[in-house]
Amino acid sequence: MRLSEDFLSQLKYRSDLSEIAANYMQLKRRGRNLVGLCPFHSEKTPSFNIYTENGSFYCFGCGTGGDVITFVMKMENLDYMEAVRFLAQRAGMSMPEDNFDDSSSRLRTRIFEANREAARFFHQKLNEECGKAALDYLHRRALSDRTIRHFGLGYSPNSRFALTNHLRQKGFTDAELIAANLVYQARSGKGVVDRFYDRVMFPIIDLRGNVIAFGGRILSDMKPKYLNTSDTLVFSKSNNLFSLNNAKNAGSKFLILCEGYMDVIALNQAGFTQAVATLGTALTEEQALLMKRYCEEVVICYDADEAGQKATARAIDILRRAGMPVRILTVPDGKDPDEFIRNHGDKGPAAFKNILENSGNDVDYRLFKLQSSYDLNIPQSKMSYLNEAVKIISSLDNAMERDIYCSKLSDITAVSKDSIKEQVDKQLRQKYRSRRRSEFSEITKKISARDDRINPQHQSNLRAATAEEKLIAYLLKNPDKLSFISSRLKTEDFVTDFNRKLYEYFFERIKSDLDPTLNISKDFTSDEQSQIYRIIHQDEALSSTTDAASEYIRTIKEERYKPTADDIKNASLDEMGGFLKNLRDKKQ
Ligand code: UTP
Ligand code: MN
Repeated sequence: MRLSEDFLSQLKYRSDLSEIAANYMQLKRRGRNLVGLCPFHSEKTPSFNIYTENGSFYCFGCGTGGDVITFVMKMENLDYMEAVRFLAQRAGMSMPEDNFDDSSSRLRTRIFEANREAARFFHQKLNEECGKAALDYLHRRALSDRTIRHFGLGYSPNSRFALTNHLRQKGFTDAELIAANLVYQARSGKGVVDRFYDRVMFPIIDLRGNVIAFGGRILSDMKPKYLNTSDTLVFSKSNNLFSLNNAKNAGSKFLILCEGYMDVIALNQAGFTQAVATLGTALTEEQALLMKRYCEEVVICYDADEAGQKATARAIDILRRAGMPVRILTVPDGKDPDEFIRNHGDKGPAAFKNILENSGNDVDYRLFKLQSSYDLNIPQSKMSYLNEAVKIISSLDNAMERDIYCSKLSDITAVSKDSIKEQVDKQLRQKYRSRRRSEFSEITKKISARDDRINPQHQSNLRAATAEEKLIAYLLKNPDKLSFISSRLKTEDFVTDFNRKLYEYFFERIKSDLDPTLNISKDFTSDEQSQIYRIIHQDEALSSTTDAASEYIRTIKEERYKPTADDIKNASLDEMGGFLKNLRDKKQ
């Protein structure tokens, strides 16, 4: 669907980015702008900026930029049209003619519909004869019918065509079902077959109630135990959490992070609806940032086995880096929370509440784990223990927290608190320096990799590209200078293609009296947008005199028309004279 300029400009006018962003993050005023911790990467000092003058954002930490529509797309995991609709609804505006033909939007909608229909089908089968074994299985695992209904659990029949046939009948095309990852092309090349068969089905539901994926558990000891939907247009396993749709309404300050679907479901049945689980992968940074939006603290409740404990250590790091306080719940008997609750029968909920209340924070957990592998009666061993413990304490960002653990460590080891503190401070300084260094080089690498992708000529034409970018930023700040610029610089004069394309784009819009930045989020990819907002916001102190513009234009032309090594090698004497004269003229 084509959205009119008027509609979009109304929509943006009524969708204040600062107000909308404030729903997801803490913002502080800095001059005319607002700053906060970037929701798109983990950081401890704010580099995320909101520019109130033009309703855009740019993060100097990860180089992500965009406007209010881009922001909503990223935060809510929506495509462009869905984000527009989301904002329109919020602003109380009705969408013009809702018969959109945006094909990727349409496919997304079809995937949601196919998933919903599949979930309904699987759930239905659970109550039919063919699903009896699966239903028995779930009952044996102590799930009530109410829980089964609440989670919409189901059964995929033991046939390779049950779902395919059903969904075809409902009017879905094979292409749509493949895009939903519900079926796949059979290797024999003859049509499509069901991806899930003879499994207990767990629908994965996003925050708006859409079925976005499935996990399917086999009923026997065969492998793989769980089969999950691969990433699709509507699902990314590293960006979602199982049961976050329930957990976010639990009214709890903390979330319980488990390993498995069954853990979450058992916890829900026991009344702990704030439980979530990752989807068949280790915890990601994105998931940590996602949780941060819905809670103040995470209780990690992984399996008691060694793999679970390793995963716990990793999750602590990731959550800490995202600035999230963490507690660790170790299940004392049984292998995971599901088993623990089941093993305690009627007393399950109370028993779990008890271990939940006694769960310590991650530092206690790590110091305790550490202590068990050293003999503090042997001086050498005690030294090693202290060194490791100091490392853990210095990983804390909060000075008060560090102080508390220095005291604790001093009590445990009978070493003076002052000397422990001294070591911690030393570590801290070292760590701070190396973190700064590595963060900086990582960011530079990331942003320049994007530069290369978006504008491959950037690196090899740095001087020209920089002048082009300054000129574009200048033009956007001073659209009234359009004719001043265009009378002195032709689009052919641009050295890099991407910047030329940008210039032409803005030139056309300004010439037609349109807001030059209004449609950036529609007309450019997310990476391109980030690049554009980097260009726009790179230099807040950009001069607005025409002298500055003239200087950029001169640089661009100089770079554009300077002879290359080949030119010089192949030039006649006359041509050489021409080059030299040119240079001399420029010098004057
Ligand atoms: P577990 O092996 O701990 O299974 O895997 P579980 O959740 O306790 O399941 P039950 O109790 O045996 O039924 C934890 C999680 O890891 C993912 C699933 O998300 C599972 O819930 N997983 C596991 C897979 O994706 N594939 C597998 O083959 C195994
Ligand atoms: Mn289990």
